[in-house]
Amino acid sequence: MQLSVIVPTFNEGPNVAELVRRTAQALVGREVEVIFVDDSTDDTPDIIRAVAATATIPVRLIHRDDPVGGLGGAVVEGIRAAASEYCVVMDGDLQHPPEVIADLLARVEEGDADVVVASRYIAGGTSDGLANAVRTTVSRASTLLTKAMFPKKLHNCSDPMTGFFLIDRRALEVDELRPRGFKILLEILARKQMRVAEVPFSFAPRFAGESKASFSQGMRFLTQLTMLRFGRMSAFAIVGGLGAVANLVIMWALTAVGVQYIVAAIVASVITIVANFLALEYLVFADMRQESGLMRHRFIKSFTFNGVEAIVRIPVIWLLVNQAHIQSVVAAALTLIAAFVVRFVFHALVVYAP
Ligand code: GDD
Ligand code: MN
Repeated sequence: MQLSVIVPTFNEGPNVAELVRRTAQALVGREVEVIFVDDSTDDTPDIIRAVAATATIPVRLIHRDDPVGGLGGAVVEGIRAAASEYCVVMDGDLQHPPEVIADLLARVEEGDADVVVASRYIAGGTSDGLANAVRTTVSRASTLLTKAMFPKKLHNCSDPMTGFFLIDRRALEVDELRPRGFKILLEILARKQMRVAEVPFSFAPRFAGESKASFSQGMRFLTQLTMLRFGRMSAFAIVGGLGAVANLVIMWALTAVGVQYIVAAIVASVITIVANFLALEYLVFADMRQESGLMRHRFIKSFTFNGVEAIVRIPVIWLLVNQAHIQSVVAAALTLIAAFVVRFVFHALVVYAP
């Protein structure tokens, strides 16, 4: 067997026959099997068995009565059961065109990658199948945040949230995975430095049925991120928080000895900005300094960002108060939270870019 195609399914009956047909057609001449790892509550397993009986390639069914780990757990179970070392993971609703599998296989056969990611976000790929602007924005924003949290491991991956990829099982410590929810690729890439390659693809609309993505999947994703990477961002937050406190303490001390309060505020800010930057340099991003150019340039970027942020926050607060009718202190707090996240993303991806 050259290739195992693992397809997690939850109530995808109407898509099964078309998926197997297109997969077989796209991979003629290759030894390939399809493994459905199914958690359905409807008649999908019967449909899979019927399709398997007439298919031109081997089609296997793993039906789980105890669906631990959801989609991610299903994928891991499929990888364990695969007859081949090369495992493709692909959705069961044909949003991932089976024709792209040939590209994934060709790419891994070049021999310099453990994982080949089918990406919506490199030249030649599109994310048109994301039903609406809200989902597109959420997808883009969470991709940026995730990359910021794992800037090194995800450096070569433009689409860590995709559910479409090929993995060489030999590069994987299957027993170390703790899948939760939808983002199994992210977990695989976050746990261990992998050699990642990418091929573009166009995310298609669903063939039939409805999406299982939901708000609670989104929350699970955030939990997963925090669990995988409690480190850098919390350190960044702590440094920022201590800086704010230090700023106030310095200002209080200076005014107490008679310094005029505007002068005191300026001095306090300068000291805090420099101290904050040094803490980022030597603590939070210490491991990334070597590869990201001159300290002087990093300081200029960081300093400029803080200035722009301070200026941009004012009109945003105005908009929140006057257009969205949010109470002014709450509006200010919201902008501070948003500014914190954007500041972290900017530092991880721009200031300390390799
Ligand atoms: N076995 C199993 N168990 N399969 C599941 C489960 C589950 O609990 N939940 C969903 N699936 C299957 C679906 O049947 C489908 O084949 C696939 O996982 C993806 O689910 P969709 O409902 O189609 O989700 P989506 O299109 O919103 O999300 C896809 O796109 C995202 C990127 O925008 C997935 O590929 C995500 O992994 C991907 O991040
Ligand atoms: Mn889908």
